[in-house]
Amino acid sequence: MSAVEFNFEIRSKDIAARIGRLEINKKELETPALIPVYNPNKPTIPVRDLRRKFNARILMVNSYIILRNEKLRERVLDLGIHRYLGFNGLIATDSGSYQLMNYGSVSTTNREIIEFQEKIGSEIGAFLDIPSLPNAYKPRALEQLELTLRRSKEAKDANFVVNAGIQGSTYLDLRRMAARKIGRHFKLCAIGGIVRLMEEYRFNNLVDIIATVKKNLPLDRVVHAFGLGHPMVFSLAAALGCDLFDSAAYALYADDLRYMTVNGTKRLDNLEYLPCSCPVCSKYGIELKELEEGEKIRNLAMHNLYVSLEELNRVKQAIKEGNLWELLSIRARSHPELLTGLARLRKYGRWLSELDPITKKSPLYYLGGESRYRPEVITARGRIKRVSSTNRVRIPPFGKVPIEILDIYPFGSFRVTESLIREEPCFNVREMEKIKRIMEYQFGSNASELIEKDFRIKKSRRTGRIRGIYRGSELIASVRASDHFVIPKSYLADKLKKKFRYPRLRVVVDDDAVPFVSRGRSVFAKFVVDIDLELRANDEVLVVDRRDNLIGIGTLVLSPREVMDFDRGVAVRIR
Ligand code: GUN
Ligand code: ZN
Repeated sequence: MSAVEFNFEIRSKDIAARIGRLEINKKELETPALIPVYNPNKPTIPVRDLRRKFNARILMVNSYIILRNEKLRERVLDLGIHRYLGFNGLIATDSGSYQLMNYGSVSTTNREIIEFQEKIGSEIGAFLDIPSLPNAYKPRALEQLELTLRRSKEAKDANFVVNAGIQGSTYLDLRRMAARKIGRHFKLCAIGGIVRLMEEYRFNNLVDIIATVKKNLPLDRVVHAFGLGHPMVFSLAAALGCDLFDSAAYALYADDLRYMTVNGTKRLDNLEYLPCSCPVCSKYGIELKELEEGEKIRNLAMHNLYVSLEELNRVKQAIKEGNLWELLSIRARSHPELLTGLARLRKYGRWLSELDPITKKSPLYYLGGESRYRPEVITARGRIKRVSSTNRVRIPPFGKVPIEILDIYPFGSFRVTESLIREEPCFNVREMEKIKRIMEYQFGSNASELIEKDFRIKKSRRTGRIRGIYRGSELIASVRASDHFVIPKSYLADKLKKKFRYPRLRVVVDDDAVPFVSRGRSVFAKFVVDIDLELRANDEVLVVDRRDNLIGIGTLVLSPREVMDFDRGVAVRIR
């Protein structure tokens, strides 16, 4: 892999989406991020404005365009790309692959364009991958993929972070093979050949491709969606785990006088009102249409970029709140093909539910039929099977839910219109029964046997809700107000460890980490040597050493596969 310093860690997650911290060359970038493309031959929005008005911390430039223009090439070689652009943030360059797809050929070679990107000082560069068209003749797509893979090898030692293209047209077996091979050698993996799918609203194909690639890459790989610059797809692509998007679309659409919205594209000519309050739309209103051509395009490009960045912030806020699915549901109502794309997630429900946290801050809103296969529902349906209760109430889409656990997430925070509730739940359950069933849900079928006869429950005087479980005067578990999850203290943790055999409920850490964890410091993913794969992010876990001694209790903040794939960032927050 390249010599450039490259670090990535997860800060927050929802579905397969993550808010990440990416660091390249000591420059930090929060993901998901949108990389505006700047065309030196056609600078619709000047770099200075991208920096000041849009707070851009990363730009993308097509190095092939520079290479082909002699005057420009000499100037950029002389100054370096950062000084030439007057930009000291991250600069990513593309290789001319997109030209290759659109015009059938380019006049450079893989080695030449790699070397050129090194010479001009790109921090993120691309080899000359070959995007195949959707539904290309399969033997041809395979041939193009094989050439792409050979070219990737020539980039392995490049002096920049390689934005390694994964191709394979709409053939999922090719995409799987490409992801496995590229993922082995590169830390930044780019899903290529998908712009056409976006333009043609083929969102089900897009979902299939992104999900297939993601499932076959280690989870610590940063995933770039090449050219996916329309805000209507950001939430869907982010939900599947895309971290980077680049957009030339904001300028290209403006050239055609197309006005982007999160619900799709409008022709500016057909608008009589502007459904936006960005600085451009606030300033001009519908008079935007009357501007002189060049000014109109420039302002339209700015609007397009504003709505794109705004949508990305909305996606990030949704990840933080844990209601990205609600955003997907809203976006899916913009276009039938988006609804089809969302429905396609059903095919990946199990995989998504393995990445999705077990409990979240936000309530779960039932916003339509696709809620049946949202990851929270799939996870909950699986966990319900652990609970031994004869007293159940049907709550679509969860099925028959034990009445003892109706307070916990997601049931307790499930919001659905009353007409959809078929049975009235009855609420006469002994508190200790609730605790037993909640423990089964969280930890496993036998967990309820750990509740001893002399355990007592203490309720909050103010709210009347369960606060803690005591054995004599010893607090053995508290009950979290927000989601009613049981938070074990050391006595109960010990008992859980004895009841459940290795590796159940456990995160196993290397000896190096033991002194830190014992002092209450977080467990870093790097030190985890084994983990119970049935766990979910946000589960309460037992942290043990290699000899299965309990050394801490905490909250898992990543999914088990992420813990195993990452060697950076926090895996467990110790209590
Ligand atoms: N820009 C849009 N799509 C692609 C692609 O597949 N590869 C590269 N290198 N750039 C792109
Ligand atoms: Zn606007």
